[in-house]
Parts: sequence; structure tokens; C-alpha cells
Amino acid sequence: MGHSLLCMMGFFLLGTAVYGNAEVPIKPTVILQPPWTQIYRGERSTVRCEIHDEDIEWDYEWETNSHRKPPNQNEYRIISASSSYSGNYSCRGRMKSSQHNKTTEWSDSVRLAVSDNKPRPVLTVSPSWLSPGASVTLNCEVEHPSAGWSFYWYKAVPELKTYNYRSYNFDLLSDNPYSNRLPDGNTTAQDSYIIHEQTSTAGYVCRAGRGDPEYHTDYSEPNFVWSEDVHSAASLTVSPDRVQHFTSDSVSLTCEGNFTEWRVRKFSEDGRLYSSNCRTLTGSTCNINTSKSDTAVYWCESGSGEFSSAVNITVQDYHSGPILVSPVHPVTEGASVSLSCSLKRKKILSNVFFYHNDKLIQNDTRGELNISAVSKSDEGFYKCQFLGEESPHSWMSVKGEQDQRVSSSPQRISVGIAGGDDLDPF
Ligand SMILES: *[C@@H]1O[C@H](CO)[C@@H](O)[C@H](O)[C@H]1NC(C)=O
Ligand SMILES: *[C@@H]1O[C@H](CO)[C@@H](O)[C@H](O)[C@H]1NC(C)=O
Ligand SMILES: *[C@@H]1O[C@H](CO)[C@@H](O)[C@H](O)[C@H]1NC(C)=O
Ligand SMILES: *[C@@H]1O[C@H](CO)[C@@H](O)[C@H](O)[C@H]1NC(C)=O
Ligand SMILES: *[C@@H]1O[C@H](CO)[C@@H](O)[C@H](O)[C@H]1NC(C)=O
Ligand SMILES: *[C@@H]1O[C@H](CO)[C@@H](O)[C@H](O)[C@H]1NC(C)=O
Ligand SMILES: *[C@@H]1O[C@H](CO)[C@@H](O)[C@H](O)[C@H]1NC(C)=O
Ligand SMILES: *[C@@H]1O[C@H](CO)[C@@H](O)[C@H](O)[C@H]1NC(C)=O
Repeated sequence: MGHSLLCMMGFFLLGTAVYGNAEVPIKPTVILQPPWTQIYRGERSTVRCEIHDEDIEWDYEWETNSHRKPPNQNEYRIISASSSYSGNYSCRGRMKSSQHNKTTEWSDSVRLAVSDNKPRPVLTVSPSWLSPGASVTLNCEVEHPSAGWSFYWYKAVPELKTYNYRSYNFDLLSDNPYSNRLPDGNTTAQDSYIIHEQTSTAGYVCRAGRGDPEYHTDYSEPNFVWSEDVHSAASLTVSPDRVQHFTSDSVSLTCEGNFTEWRVRKFSEDGRLYSSNCRTLTGSTCNINTSKSDTAVYWCESGSGEFSSAVNITVQDYHSGPILVSPVHPVTEGASVSLSCSLKRKKILSNVFFYHNDKLIQNDTRGELNISAVSKSDEGFYKCQFLGEESPHSWMSVKGEQDQRVSSSPQRISVGIAGGDDLDPF
């Protein structure tokens, strides 16, 4: 290296003499350490100019379009980043103590982006509904997926007593952060956490951290895995007992279990968590006058941090067609079930078409779909059709007899509406 450089310099001295060119054919490299090009307000970073020639002493010059100009040193340490450090950085070396005042070429420029917004990761939970024996996978995603994050996983514990904007306390699930950093310094997309043997509804939160001292992202919004098991310590029942309701129906959600304080939670189709807007809350019952935006998953949370089983509710605009009358809770294998179709003011008694997973399964003059002994194959999405108008579809869950535990709940679930009166609040 030393030799070839001397050769080159000889050539360039000549060049300088002829063309006034004082550049040495060396191109420095700008290195970011840690190597993340997207960083956040408050993080540390070092921008370094590297010239691969140890035999020569250099002074350093920087060029940048950021609001901050690095001093004439090979290393620019950013102790606490902010957006004013965002920009492209390039450097060159100037030979120390040279009569010829020679510089290297400019390095390629390296972009450093600093965001003033603290990142908030997005937690996804899969599957959303628990099935017996299956594990639950949590995934935590930081925007601008840049490297180096370790992930922290928390269980969300309902907090009803004190005012807490989060409404949950977070309990760390494992002592060690789950790292996406491998021992060799390489990174992987290891940003998931698997939970085994979860049997009841639960909420989770994640956040990420990196660097030394560690920089932390915000906590994600809580996300949930729901249990439909009505035999868990707490459950939510719906009256009238059907998944689908019309707009402006009066629906009661009741929290059941040995707890004194409750709140009803609602996770809407838009992926957001709401406190349910109970018109009146009498004891453990929340009464809602339904609107389209009440289509959601509902569950109860107790003052001592318990989650109840969860239910689906679908609200259909009463101008838009009929609703399917189907059970809110899972049906036990071997039990009988009756599905029907209803208009706002009356149950439809004849000529209803029923669909199971979009396949027409009953097309005759009957108004009900009766299944005398439900089996696992009856599980799925159902909808009804009357005079060309379709109801929304709803999932009917079938629970194996072996999953059944001792309980006081009725074993035979029959869903039906006694008369038109139930449907008409007026
Ligand atoms: C070297 O050249 C630069 C301009 O290219 C000038 O600003 C600087 O003063 C010169 N240094 C010496 C030691 O001649
Ligand atoms: C900044 O550098 C990136 C590559 O690192 C390049 O794509 C971009 O065009 C540069 N922007 C400016 C303003 O030089
Ligand atoms: C890092 O990961 C990449 C892609 O997975 C691989 O090609 C590379 O060899 C790894 N480096 C080391 C040092 O293991
Ligand atoms: C709610 O609906 C989903 C499908 O949208 C289904 O997987 C889940 O089992 C349903 N839950 C209940 C309690 O029926
Ligand atoms: C429900 O709300 C609608 C629209 O706000 C209103 O017209 C209706 O009277 C309400 N029903 C009940 C039972 O309060
Ligand atoms: C309800 O909980 C209280 C206190 O936790 C306990 O003393 C009582 O026995 C429980 N009652 C039932 C019916 O489980
Ligand atoms: C239902 O049955 C009737 C008579 O059997 C037939 O005309 C009609 O096309 C059927 N409808 C559908 C959607 O299959
Ligand atoms: C369906 O079952 C109900 C009882 O659950 C019964 O009243 C009704 O007559 C049956 N309908 C048909 C079409 O079999």
C-alpha cells in the first residue's frame, strides 16, 4: 500500500504541476456506528470518516446538507440525535504537513435520518381466537424496519381503579429481552414471541429497545387473544342471545363472575380498542342502543384484572336486509341448534335460504335451519337470504364434548325469537 501510494503520488505531483489538480486517488468511506441509517430523537450515533492508509496523517473535512456541520475530525459523535442531524454526510482527508496541500476524493455520501417521533411498534396476535392446545404468536413490528432492536413482551393487566390513560398495567413476560441480535452481530427478523397454554382472553403489549445506553420505543397499543370459552372464571353474555342485531336495537351485555367491578371492552373492526359506550350501566350489565359502529368483539374486564370470554357482535342497518339469528356462544357437539332469519320487526317464517361457508344448504319453504345433533363439520360461517336480500355472515363455533367442563350453563342451546316483539324496541 505504502509503495503503490508513493507511486500514485508521484503521478499526481505531475498531474498537479500540469492541471493544478491536488487530489490523491483515495476515496474515504463514511461509516455509521451503530450502522442504522434511521434513528430517533435521543439516540446516539457516530459518523466516522475512514481512510485506508495508515502511513499518512490526515486532517478531515466534512460536507453535509444537515443543519449540523461536523468539526474537522475523523469522528463525529452525536450524543443525542434530533432531526437537525438528518442529512447526507460525506468527508475527505487533507494531508497533514504537506507543502502540496493535497486532498483525497470526496467519499460517497451516507444518509442519516433522524425522526423526532418516538416510534410506536405495532403488535399483532395470531390467531385472534384461542383454540384448545394451540399456541399464540405475538409479533412486534417497528416502522422503518431498521436493525438492532431487542423486543420486550408484556401482559396487559386491566386497571380499573386509578386513572391511567393506558387502562392497563404491563407485566413483563420474560426477564430477558428477546433479541434480534445474533452473537456474530448479524441481525434477524426475530421479533416474535410464542405463548403456550393460554386458555383465557388476554391482552399483550410490546416495545423495542436498542443501543447502549438503551433507547426504548413507545409501548405498542394492546392487542388481544380472545377465548370463547363461557366456562372461564368470567364470561360475557348477550341479550338477546344472538350475534347479529339491527341498528337501534337495545342489547344488554352482562359480565358474569365472582367480581364486583367491571368494565366492558370493545375491539372494533377498525382494529381499535374502545370502552363500550354503555347508555346505562346497571351493576354488571351494560345496555347499548346499537349503531353500525358497534360491530365488534366484546369482553369484560374485572377490577381484579381478569378477562372474561369474548363474543362477536355484528350490527346490520335495518334498511339493508335481514339478520341471521345464530348463537353468540359456541354450541356443544351433539346439541341441537336452530338458526333463523329475521327482519327488524318480525321473524321470517318461510322461504329462507341458508348458506354455510357460502354454500347454499337449505333452499325450501322452511324458515329455520334446524340441526338436531351438531358436529364439528357444522362449524363455520352462516348467512341467510330472504327475497334476494342477504344477512351478514356470522361464525358458529362448535365445541367438542371433551372440551366441556362441569358448569351450570345450559347444554342445549336453542336460539330463536319468541315473537316479533323482542325485535321491536318500540
Ligand atoms: C489548501 O487549499 C485550501 C483550498 O483548497 C485552502 O483553503 C487552504 O488554506 C490551503 N492550505 C494550505 C496549507 O495551503
Ligand atoms: C443522500 O444520500 C443518498 C444515498 O445515501 C442518496 O440516495 C440521496 O440522493 C442523497 N441526497 C442528497 C440530497 O444528496
Ligand atoms: C449475516 O446474514 C447474512 C444473510 O442472512 C449472511 O449472508 C451472512 O453470511 C451473515 N454474516 C455472518 C457473519 O454470519
Ligand atoms: C368471532 O368471529 C371469528 C371470525 O370472524 C371467529 O373465528 C370466532 O370464533 C368468533 N367467536 C365466537 C365467540 O364465535
Ligand atoms: C336508539 O337510538 C336511536 C338513534 O339515536 C333513537 O332513534 C332510538 O329511539 C334509540 N332507542 C332507544 C331504545 O333508546
Ligand atoms: C367470591 O369471591 C370471594 C372473595 O374472593 C370468596 O370469598 C367467595 O367464596 C366467592 N364466591 C363464590 C360463589 O365463588
Ligand atoms: C332454490 O330452489 C328453487 C326451486 O327448487 C330454484 O328455482 C332456485 O333457483 C333455487 N335457488 C338457488 C339460489 O339455488
Ligand atoms: C326447529 O326446531 C324448533 C325447536 O328448536 C321447532 O320449534 C321448529 O318447529 C323446528 N323447525 C323445523 C322447520 O323443523
